Amino acid sequence: MSEPRLHRLTDFVTTLAAVLDRTSDEAKILEDGGRLLAGLVAHDDWLPDAYAQPDPVRYQQYLLHCDSRERFSVVSFVWGPGQATPIHDHTVWGLIGVLRGSELSQSYARHGDAFAAAGPVHRLEQGQIEAVSPRVGDVHRVTNAFDDRVSISIHVYGANIGAVRRATYDREGRSKPFVSGYANATLPNLWDRSRPTPVEIAP
Ligand code: FE2
Repeated sequence: MSEPRLHRLTDFVTTLAAVLDRTSDEAKILEDGGRLLAGLVAHDDWLPDAYAQPDPVRYQQYLLHCDSRERFSVVSFVWGPGQATPIHDHTVWGLIGVLRGSELSQSYARHGDAFAAAGPVHRLEQGQIEAVSPRVGDVHRVTNAFDDRVSISIHVYGANIGAVRRATYDREGRSKPFVSGYANATLPNLWDRSRPTPVEIAP
């Protein structure tokens, strides 16, 4: 990739922070944040290659930015061919936007002690957005839709998600606590303002 257009991500995080300054209403955050995320994933020219690397064993979660008050975090979620999550929850609001490839999401609902698939598998194509939260549905299992190539989605969560205590579930409803952490030790530099923002040229 030529020089990544990182300013897109800088603009996204500053605009989302302004949304959170204005409202704490989750529905409004998901609506406005979803629109902003759709704008971000509409272009696949800004994610540096270091945060787009798959791992042969398991999917990767690279922290791209964390709000200084930990009101939100932005993560690139990189799927190797055929990789999948366990059934898991989030406990906070989240937005998922597909940057590259596509993914399959199956929602789950608790029935008594067990979890059962709720509704059909939802295929999320490049550019599409999905929301999760305890209010709108928080438990799902996600799979790379491709078993021969990488998919990447950009996730935004209403907390520093790598530090949130969450749970995975088996189909019998047994839960296992986990904290996801992050795959990276260094973050992209969103704050070097010394270089001019590239001018958009209309196609
Ligand atoms: Fe998830």
